[in-house]
Amino acid sequence: MTEKLSVKNLYKIFGDDPDQALSLLREGRSKDEILEQTGMTVGVQDAEFSVGEGEIFVVMGLSGSGKSTLVRMLNRLIEPTAGEVRIDGEDIASVGSEELRRIRLEKISMVFQHFALFPHKTVCENVEYGLKVQGVSAEERRERALAALDQVGLKAWADRPPAALSGGMQQRVGLARGLAVDPQVLLMDEPFSALDPLIRREMQQELIELQRRLKMTIVFITHDLHEALILGDHIAIMKEGRFVQIGTAEQIVGEPAHDYVAAFTQDIDRSRVFAAERVMREPEALDLGTDTPAAALERMDAVGRDALYVLEAGKPVGVVTRRELAGPEGARCASLSEGLVRDFPSVGPDTKLYQLYAPCRSGLPVAVLDGGRLLGTVEQEDIFDQLAVEEAAGEADRQPAETGAPAVA
Ligand SMILES: Nc1ncnc2c1ncn2[C@@H]1O[C@H](COP(=O)(O)OP(=O)(O)O)[C@@H](O)[C@H]1O
Ligand SMILES: [Mg+2]
Repeated sequence: MTEKLSVKNLYKIFGDDPDQALSLLREGRSKDEILEQTGMTVGVQDAEFSVGEGEIFVVMGLSGSGKSTLVRMLNRLIEPTAGEVRIDGEDIASVGSEELRRIRLEKISMVFQHFALFPHKTVCENVEYGLKVQGVSAEERRERALAALDQVGLKAWADRPPAALSGGMQQRVGLARGLAVDPQVLLMDEPFSALDPLIRREMQQELIELQRRLKMTIVFITHDLHEALILGDHIAIMKEGRFVQIGTAEQIVGEPAHDYVAAFTQDIDRSRVFAAERVMREPEALDLGTDTPAAALERMDAVGRDALYVLEAGKPVGVVTRRELAGPEGARCASLSEGLVRDFPSVGPDTKLYQLYAPCRSGLPVAVLDGGRLLGTVEQEDIFDQLAVEEAAGEADRQPAETGAPAVA
């Protein structure tokens, strides 16, 4: 994947002698110690990450952990104290003001939690705002604003005043304003935090679909772990200005690198985070052309299963079960194809565990397919085993977490 955005050794100190605070940090002093000793606040310390083109990178942390400071340094609404921010390899942190202006116009756009719509302008004029700043002609502005409104399902409202819209719809206008400038990188600072839970869900789904269509690179800030897990291709957990872990949703939940992360994730529904790939077993598949029913039954005994998939020219064509092959009263099938069930349940490797319950109900192992190739199989007990293991691990994590990490609301 092409790297779109990368950040290295990025720091923000609020105060009048940042260099002093930086050297104290490097000596290993904490944010609290530095505040006490110097009165300066460590906003962000030593952030490092990269975001691939078309990825959603989520930064999640409690209030005050440094999320807004971080995201505002990415377009230099806040000047970094030290470090680099590269977009397409170009260091934003060191360019001159003209260059910075160009980058902001062409590459990067931001959507805020509380953004103000101009009450006396129409919805469409509000969306046109960023384009107007760019000096785009009136005609093109309207055209692009309407297209952006269409993307968020509000085209019909274009000529109404913002007051005619509900809170959720107004937030969509904010999103449309961000989209209208057609940014390569979209920064979103808690854009959905003020919305009701149901509307928020809708907006999350909408953002996922938009992103799939438009292939934008997004840095998304949230204090809500659920939101982070739903949206993030990669997720960074932030605490006291620092990243404590960066990983996929599965890694954050499945292999928390820190008690703090474990404490956050312990109540997450793992069946919505973990995918088929994580629980599947080896296929142990048979070959339709060469394997006999006797060989199949032998293999079932050897691997302790009651059903196995059958391949023809490397592709799964069905599944045979012990019962079917053995036949009634020992009248064993004459060939594998005689006992073959051709209508078998299948899923993709990214299918979440909760979506596997239904296909598992057939009683047959579920085939995990990738482009027609059999990667593995999943049975109901594999899912329960995995969730039970996680449950036990969660219990074990709980003790150290209770002393270290704050409670999560
Ligand atoms: N302009 C500022 N001056 C001094 N301290 C600030 C300023 N902005 C933010 N901070 C401090 O920096 C830390 C991170 O704040 P912020 O980035 O707003 O966190 P978040 O967005 O995660 O809630 C906090 O301790 C906050 O008080
Ligand atoms: Mg914030």
